[in-house]
This record gives sequence, structure tokens and C-alpha cells, in this order.
Amino acid sequence: MDRSNWISAFLMLWLLICVGSSPLSVAVYTSSKVGLPAVLPCSVALQSDHTPHIQWQTISDSVFERIGEELLQGDSYRDRADVPEEQLVRGNCSLFLQDVRFSDAGIYESYMVVGKSSIKNRIFIQRVQLAVIDHKAIIHVKTGEDLILDLYTNQAEQVIFQNSTESDWTVLWERGAVKKGYLKERGNKLTFRKVSARSAGTYKVLDSEGLALSTVKVTVTEPVLPKETETLQFTFGKATSMPPLSLITLFLTFILMLQIN
Ligand SMILES: *[C@@H]1O[C@H](CO)[C@@H](O)[C@H](O)[C@H]1NC(C)=O
Ligand SMILES: *[C@@H]1O[C@H](CO)[C@@H](O)[C@H](O)[C@H]1NC(C)=O
Repeated sequence: MDRSNWISAFLMLWLLICVGSSPLSVAVYTSSKVGLPAVLPCSVALQSDHTPHIQWQTISDSVFERIGEELLQGDSYRDRADVPEEQLVRGNCSLFLQDVRFSDAGIYESYMVVGKSSIKNRIFIQRVQLAVIDHKAIIHVKTGEDLILDLYTNQAEQVIFQNSTESDWTVLWERGAVKKGYLKERGNKLTFRKVSARSAGTYKVLDSEGLALSTVKVTVTEPVLPKETETLQFTFGKATSMPPLSLITLFLTFILMLQIN
């Protein structure tokens, strides 16, 4: 090895050591589907003579803070974040987040605040990386059945649809707007009544930013009739049906030939 190779090898080693010991690399990874709850794991050894004081924050925001019964939630986490007190007294400082949003994705840190009122110290506990992922599903329905689409969360603002031949998206549902007759909305579920082959395609549930919370591919199949009704229909159809097409054509050709002659 010449000198420059030695230097680059040394730099590599130095970089590896730095990355290896950087706090970012010890982050615990967790993922949650949008609209569902998430638990950011954390555990801590408590000092028995103190009311536990815990803080959760992101790089830019305060998320949650609890001192005994008292709690504080960050603006973006109002009514959604908690470290339940009964868990905390047992040393479980996991952050419980409800109705996870795409904007919640990122790195979170937890701290324990210790010391008397005048001199306080923050002890770093845990770094957690949260990923928020969208829902994906394939639904098979039969003609005449209902199609139930999950909206998952109040974040859902719109449902759009695209069939297999069109490239345009059609808006089928909007929060607060007048609903179409074939639609029923209950809880966070949307029911499309009595679907036909035309309902086959892709459905997307969008949030207020136009991001897809959920993408559902729907296939529609003809119901398979039980054997008995099938034969019944067949004979019934035969008795009342018109003459076969080939006979009609033959008859018409015959008349045409007569006229030509
Ligand atoms: C810690 O608390 C969270 C909720 O805040 C809970 O989901 C989790 O199961 C708890 N873990 C243990 C080990 O009790
Ligand atoms: C797709 O939608 C277009 C326009 O609404 C319609 O003309 C076409 O028949 C549809 N295709 C299928 C396969 O349903």
C-alpha cells in the first residue's frame, strides 16, 4: 500500500467508528400504518423516591411530557399522545400515539428529568425512528354484493376511483359533501351498495394533502350459481328464447335472395 491508500483506509476506519458510536445508529425502528395507533418503545429504571418525569420530543417539536398525573401534549399531538401513568410507574416510558399521521414519521427521543426543582438534569433514554406507511389491499366482490371500503381515520377527506380502461380519476366521496345514493357511510367505513362489473378498478382514500392513506384494488366477478338454478334457468331460457341467430340470418338471406331474383 502506498501512502494515499493508508490515508484512505485510516479515514474509512475513523468514519466507521464515528458512525458506530453516533447516537443516531442506536435508534430503535418502529413502523405503523397511517390512522392506527403506534407504540414507541422505551423503558427506564426509576428512582423510587421521585415522581417520574418523562419527556418525548422530535428534533423540532415537543411531543409529550408527564410529571406524575400532570401531562403536556405538543400542538401536533393534541389528544393523541400519552405515556400512561400506570405504565410509567412500572418503568414503561413507551409513547403511545393514536391516529398516526404521515407527518408523524421521524426520529423521537425520550428523556428522564431528575433532580431538585432548582437543579434539573435531563438523562437521555431512547431514540426511536417511526415510519408511517399507507394501507394496501385487494378486494374481490361478486356482482350485486356490497363493497366495503375502510377509511381508517378522520384524516380521510376523499375517495377517488379509476377503472382499468380510463386514466382519469373520479371523485366518489368527499367528507361533508352530499353523498351519492349508492353510498353509505358509517363510522370509518364506506359501503358501495350492489356493485356491478363497472365498480372494478382502483380506489384511493386521500387525506387533506392529497396523499393516499389507502389504495384498494377491487375485482368484480359474476356470482357462481348453484347447479339446480343453473339448469332451471337453462330450460326456462330455452323455452322462451327467440330462434337462434343463425336461423334468423338464414331466413333473412333467403328473403333477400328471393327479392334479388
Ligand atoms: C408499555 O406501554 C405501552 C402503552 O403505552 C404498551 O403498549 C406496552 O405493551 C407496554 N409494555 C409493557 C412491557 O408493558
Ligand atoms: C371506465 O369508465 C369509462 C368512463 O366512465 C367507461 O366508458 C368505461 O366503460 C369504463 N370501463 C369499464 C371496464 O368499466
